[in-house]
Amino acid sequence: MLRRLHHDQPESFAFTKANQKWAEAQITKFPEGRQASAVIPLLWRAQEQEGWLSRPAIEHIADMLGMAHIRALEVATFYFMFQLAPVGSVAHVQVCGTTSCMICGAEDLIAVCRDKIAANPHELSADGRFSWEEVECLGACSNAPMAQIGKDYYEDLTAARFGEILDELAAGKVPVPGPQNGRYASEPLAGLTSLTEFESGRTQYNASVARAVELGDTVKRIDGSEMPVLTPWLGDEMKGTRRKAADPRPARGKPVNGTGVTEQEAREKPRAKPDTGSVAQGPADAGPGIRPPALPAPEGGQPDDLKQIKGVGPALEKQLHELGVFHFAQVAAWGAEEVAWVDENLKGFKGRVSRDGWVEQARTLAEGGETEFSKRVEKGDIY
Ligand code: FES
Repeated sequence: MLRRLHHDQPESFAFTKANQKWAEAQITKFPEGRQASAVIPLLWRAQEQEGWLSRPAIEHIADMLGMAHIRALEVATFYFMFQLAPVGSVAHVQVCGTTSCMICGAEDLIAVCRDKIAANPHELSADGRFSWEEVECLGACSNAPMAQIGKDYYEDLTAARFGEILDELAAGKVPVPGPQNGRYASEPLAGLTSLTEFESGRTQYNASVARAVELGDTVKRIDGSEMPVLTPWLGDEMKGTRRKAADPRPARGKPVNGTGVTEQEAREKPRAKPDTGSVAQGPADAGPGIRPPALPAPEGGQPDDLKQIKGVGPALEKQLHELGVFHFAQVAAWGAEEVAWVDENLKGFKGRVSRDGWVEQARTLAEGGETEFSKRVEKGDIY
């Protein structure tokens, strides 16, 4: 299928405040220099907010991640899960048209879409509230035919029931998702033939339907208020992890060079003076915990390869050296207070010690043992 950006684009894009915070938190999940790895979750979030991905949204995310615009465009135009044209303001309906669903009546469902929404897929209904498309197997084949609407699956559909569901959505209701023919989940149509003893213990709905009913409005656009940030290493606030608005983005305003190497990729090459940051000194050393004992230099003149600890890359190893930490045994000896101090004072990597379990790993390595990660480092699988 030809996937092109929509001919009519908005002037600009911005995340809601809460989604912006969520997006910035996601970026911290990836090591320094690998922020581009967050491109799919950020594009997805933008789509959940707006319903579709506009060019300004894709470029905004590329700028956030220090990527050339073309790199983010490549991702957005490759994956079918990204909608490149406006979708209905109430719901975008995805009807599965693959084998099981087709045999069981998907074509009848598509006829309902043509009748009630628009003649063609990816076309808005006259009132702009609905759109539809045919998609490949959504993995609910035993409940065929089915359609995904918003975040939910509506299964065991008939054309009549599907039409009613669209009418209910148009009336501002959110119909109960899941099987629409009385089945509880994907058990045999004629009823359970085994594990029947569990039938009496059923809750009203199966787990995913129960969750959808609990959420209530599963066709609502995500504005960031629904989900926790899920980045416990940042604590409640994002201080210190968020780039200042005035910081230059590596790719902003700079073209990709003739080889296709982006500014960000060029930055990752070894430099004479890498900007890896340093351990905070002076007043910034304030905070929880106790500074761990430091060595003036590695014992025997030879430091351990701290990069064998999962989560420690070259930048963090440099910071540890500046802290006077050169050996696994030093890290292995840290207690909760020392961990808290180092977690707080690693510039740009706050919380990494506890997040990646450095102390446990260092104990194994200090005793001459190996971890799964250190084996991969030894084999040269980790760069
Ligand atoms: S064939 Fe429709 S969900 Fe698999």
